[in-house]
Amino acid sequence: MKQAPRKYANYIPIRELHSKEQQLSPFQVYAELRENTPVRYDEHRECWDVFRYEDVQYVLKNPKLFSSERNRASSSMLTTDPPKHKQLRDLVNQAFTPKAIEALAPRIQEITDELLAPHLSVGKMNLIDDLATPLPVIVIAELIGVPASDRREFKHWSDVLVKGARDDSEEAFQALAKEKQQNMQELYAYFTDIMEQRRIEPQDDLISLLLAAEIEGQRLTEEEVVNFCILLLAAGNETTTNLIANAVRILSEQPELQDELREHPDRVASAVEETLRYYPPIVAIGRVARETVELRGVTIKAGEQVISWVGAANRDGAQFEHADEFVSNRKPNRHMGFGFGIHFCLGAPLARLEARVVLHTLLQRMEQIQLVPDTLLEPIQSAFVFGVKEYPIQFRA
Ligand code: HEM
Repeated sequence: MKQAPRKYANYIPIRELHSKEQQLSPFQVYAELRENTPVRYDEHRECWDVFRYEDVQYVLKNPKLFSSERNRASSSMLTTDPPKHKQLRDLVNQAFTPKAIEALAPRIQEITDELLAPHLSVGKMNLIDDLATPLPVIVIAELIGVPASDRREFKHWSDVLVKGARDDSEEAFQALAKEKQQNMQELYAYFTDIMEQRRIEPQDDLISLLLAAEIEGQRLTEEEVVNFCILLLAAGNETTTNLIANAVRILSEQPELQDELREHPDRVASAVEETLRYYPPIVAIGRVARETVELRGVTIKAGEQVISWVGAANRDGAQFEHADEFVSNRKPNRHMGFGFGIHFCLGAPLARLEARVVLHTLLQRMEQIQLVPDTLLEPIQSAFVFGVKEYPIQFRA
């Protein structure tokens, strides 16, 4: 395969989203791109963009044609192709089972209650800083086996992992690369240290389980265990924060949904799925063409980057009825908010569980949840993450 491209299109926003309003609600722009240029080359970002449901699914389900491998400092399951990918994923699955995740429900409820407690009597809170950010960080830290005293550093490392460049200049790009490299070294040192301790004295945590996981005599190397822990932070924290925040944003934008879900609490789970379709935390997923491929009449050459716009595919009328409406009990709902195919999100059960617990709890404890009036929402500056930086809410307790 050719050398991976110099620019990572994932870091540079698409130019069609000019204004803040469009970044806060990109779906009309996505619709136009999906309609007019379903597969197009962007000279500026040096990549292909794919917008229709059918085509996004085609890219994601064909790892033989579209590779996940990148020139990244760390290689992990997310950036590995078959057959190595399956070996890693099967081993990790032994520790990360849906049953193990479901067992976390009471603890997730407890953390949610603790985080909410100081705000209920006030009738106001910063949803993101007070709840949606700390909750997944605490849950992952406890799951992995990171001591509570290290949580601040842990949060900082997790933030830098998913940080985007401040603009698309070469300097910004270099500065970010440097910061990320330093961050990666710190994370490596930190997790290697914890791993050594667990090797001597195993605990009831994920690192100890990963060290013990074995399939047909195959085990994870130390480097793979550390890479996996880093991947959990990179893939799991900000995404879950944005899922929670995007869900509450929808409840605030469409207040009738609050009563609907209170009346039908069994719809909370499907409302979480619908959030992943309607306001997905990850809107774009990158691949690199392994060989020359024809797609919808264009020729993608080996080595070129291909960005799959899940955010556009999830609103494709060819796949979803009333695609631009939020339907809390939509069934079936084959959204691609967690991706599709062999890399389908490993943490989906955990993210779903956290979002469900939070929504149930907010709807139970709060009435008339709304964005604090006159708040100017700021979109997260990222090419592949969809969310807002702050979301202050007010409510009746
Ligand atoms: C993969 C989204 C939460 C761990 C993915 C992919 C997406 C995604 C789109 C596929 C990437 C690709 O195909 O290249 C999300 C969203 C989340 C979320 C929207 C929250 C709402 C989590 C959590 C964890 C996690 C909580 C772990 C604690 C992973 C891992 C992969 C992955 C390990 C790689 C799987 C593989 O390569 O086989 N996620 N994720 N994610 N996610 Fe998530």
